[in-house]
Amino acid sequence: MGDNSAKLDVGSKQVPLPIHNGTIGPDVADISKLYAETGMFTYDPGFTSTASCESKITYIDGDEGVLLYRGYPIEQLAEHGDFLETCYLLLYGELPTHSQKADFDDRVTHHTMLHEQMARFYSGFRRDAHPMAVMVGVVGALSAFYHDSTDIADPYQRMVASVRMIAKMPTIAAMAYKYSIGQPFIYPRNELDFTSNFLNMCFAVPCETYKVNPVLSRAMDRIFILHADHEQNASTSTVRLAGSSGANPFACIAAGIACLWGPAHGGANEAALEMLQEIGSVDRIPEFVDRAKDKDDPFRLMGFGHRVYKNYDPRARVMQRTCHEVLAEVGIKDDPLLDVALELERIALHDEYFIEKRLYPNIDFYSGITLKALGFPTTMFTVLFALARTVGWIAQWKEMIEDPKQKIGRPRQLYTGATRRDYVPMSSRK
Ligand code: SDX
Repeated sequence: MGDNSAKLDVGSKQVPLPIHNGTIGPDVADISKLYAETGMFTYDPGFTSTASCESKITYIDGDEGVLLYRGYPIEQLAEHGDFLETCYLLLYGELPTHSQKADFDDRVTHHTMLHEQMARFYSGFRRDAHPMAVMVGVVGALSAFYHDSTDIADPYQRMVASVRMIAKMPTIAAMAYKYSIGQPFIYPRNELDFTSNFLNMCFAVPCETYKVNPVLSRAMDRIFILHADHEQNASTSTVRLAGSSGANPFACIAAGIACLWGPAHGGANEAALEMLQEIGSVDRIPEFVDRAKDKDDPFRLMGFGHRVYKNYDPRARVMQRTCHEVLAEVGIKDDPLLDVALELERIALHDEYFIEKRLYPNIDFYSGITLKALGFPTTMFTVLFALARTVGWIAQWKEMIEDPKQKIGRPRQLYTGATRRDYVPMSSRK
């Protein structure tokens, strides 16, 4: 990494800021010595211009609408690979050979069962609990059951914890769904592939044989690939910050799930479908577009806009194609929600406000329609996002732990509160 420097004038002092170059993408100005040399902090709420770390995992070019996992374009991975191949790539950095893939699939398959006592956790929740609340609770509790993979200093335990997380998330997610609909839990089936096993655990019942539809399983697997990782988004940054204190990986993933739940982030797929349902028909779209543009109205077009993509989210294109494929396979000829979505996208992409602010559909815009057609209730949409994103979270967590420069994350602040003042006894207060 070649270094040169930017210069910052602070008062009468000129402070050199070393410039670090990446393999692709923006250079960075290293400000790590700024406070020691100037007594000043930088200020960047929301981290719009701040690189929190160095990473080799995922690259996004927001202007060009490019997403690479370890250098491979998301479109190619979604087209040609499967989700566990993407998991291997994100974790190990290279596409697996045939034998490496077979070994990885086997390791994941043989970690899909959950400690039997964990099933009792679910009965502590109300049946109508949001499944994301269940996911935060149950995943956080994993560290109470898998003590033998919480020593983060042991590379072997780090990889075991990684494989356990990837393998058990589908089981935990399917159990959250079954619990919410009052049906018995379905155990994993080792003869099924990763995603077929997940669909079987969600939709099979003990009283009859369930046949997984291979077209729908392929579509679900592709959706998992699209959601697997995404650079330093809010939930990944949460996982990294939690991990920087030395917290165990299960607790860090639970923190990531909690952050992903928000409607500005992973909760947008649930919010986007609810928005489409609220709009209801094509003729009501202008009213909602006007509301989205109204500064005094908190309403936003859910599934639109992105901190990084100022072009079409490449995942949204693949998701739109998958949406059509799933609707056709399940026999939905014309879904009014899809009509609203397509017309809303057409209108928004020709509207000056959205053009000027460079707001395009993101991955959440079409995922809700697709997941609903796959048979999932809206409340499960973000759970599916968390299931897929677990590999990204754990790969980024591992990279952070294995970074020799790693230290606890501890941002500072611009303080604008009260200056020092003395305590006033109650008797002296008015
Ligand atoms: C995900 O970071 C990631 O990588 C996330 C993710 C991942 O894979 O991890 O890609 C997944 O979270 C996708 C995003 C899902 N969220 C939504 O779809 C919710 C709707 N979108 C917005 O809330 C918003 O676009 C964000 C949160 C996604 C991005 O917000 P930013 O980067 O902070 O941008 P901003 O809020 O400053 O918006 C810039 C301008 C503002 O107007 P001005 O103040 O400049 O006048 O654009 C406007 C916003 O009001 N704007 C919108 C809008 N999004 C932004 N106006 C209407 N509708 C929208 N959706």
